[in-house]
Amino acid sequence: MTEDVVLDIQNLRTHFVTDDAVVRAVDGVDLTVRRGRTLCVVGESGCGKSAMARSILRLVEPPGRVVGGRILLYPPADTTDTEPTDLASLHPTGKEIRSVRGRDVAMIFQEPMSSLSLVHTVGDQVGESLRVHTGISRRRAREYAVELLERVRVPGAERVVDSYPFQLSGGMRQRVMIAMALSCGPRVLIADEPTTALDVTTQAQILDLLADLRRDSGMGLLFITHDMGVVAEIADEVAVMYLGIVVEQGPVDEIFHDPQHPYTKALLEAVPRFGASEHDRLTTIRGTVPAPGTELPGCVFHPRCPEAVEGLCDTTTPKVTVPGPGREVRCLLREGTTDREESTDAR
Ligand SMILES: Nc1ncnc2c1ncn2[C@@H]1O[C@H](COP(=O)(O)OP(=O)(O)O)[C@@H](O)[C@H]1O
Ligand SMILES: [Mg+2]
Repeated sequence: MTEDVVLDIQNLRTHFVTDDAVVRAVDGVDLTVRRGRTLCVVGESGCGKSAMARSILRLVEPPGRVVGGRILLYPPADTTDTEPTDLASLHPTGKEIRSVRGRDVAMIFQEPMSSLSLVHTVGDQVGESLRVHTGISRRRAREYAVELLERVRVPGAERVVDSYPFQLSGGMRQRVMIAMALSCGPRVLIADEPTTALDVTTQAQILDLLADLRRDSGMGLLFITHDMGVVAEIADEVAVMYLGIVVEQGPVDEIFHDPQHPYTKALLEAVPRFGASEHDRLTTIRGTVPAPGTELPGCVFHPRCPEAVEGLCDTTTPKVTVPGPGREVRCLLREGTTDREESTDAR
């Protein structure tokens, strides 16, 4: 394991078991987050992105459960300790995972109000995590909250610190959430569609902010989005997720210039082009994500795939093919185009 790896997810499986179906929301995902780098996980709604993200912090709610795999969190680079902690093996409500949450791994969501309290000031909430983890005084926590708000470029931080979330705009609330997430200096920040609810200008500002914070702090950023346009702005590496599995991953430039999986190509074609007219602006991907719990033989994408070959793609499960250094694709049409298949040390 190279030393810049901070989070290594191996064969993660998270299932929702209900009376009439087993929804395999995450069904064998491998991802690596590196220090100071941004890994974007991209895919349409319902592909299991949030279930994957919530699994890391063990926040999946019943009937969902992490049923397999490993989530290895590596210690900080400056410690002598090199043994990772397997978050998948921890009790989801136990003391160990609670000490990881917020301190080592922090998370921000699409809707800040779902994680902000209505009845506490911004300062109390931003300072709260630090008080819990380090026991500093209220007064010191407030000072620190002001510093953090300045760091996430909240104008008038001295005033905002004593206000309540409902008094702020959506963009400012998202900055407050980011300040909260950063308060304990996490090694990994998970951002689950944090800009989806924002207008484009605010979205661009938040993406810039996250990129700067990631660079300055050296934390690893796991950024989730359904939008390839956002991926282009922020990613170093990209993992394309469809129906619980990663169908393609690799460096952002290669994914954009030489996509290998038909699903990746379709996502790229669906990105609105700057200056394009209204009617040719969006090519939508044919069909929709199958209903949760649908059992599909063969490749999970074959019913929607423009390149699908009858008798092959509907019967055979694709293996991982390595089309180049740091790249992986799961597509039957790419198998045999390389003899470096299923090479585990290529990652
Ligand atoms: N509480 C739940 N009960 C049953 N199924 C769920 C639950 N939460 C999510 N799922 C299912 O898990 C799959 C993945 O959902 P999710 O992780 O939210 O996708 P994404 O974030 O990519 O939109 C979906 O099919 C969804 O219906
Ligand atoms: Mg989601």
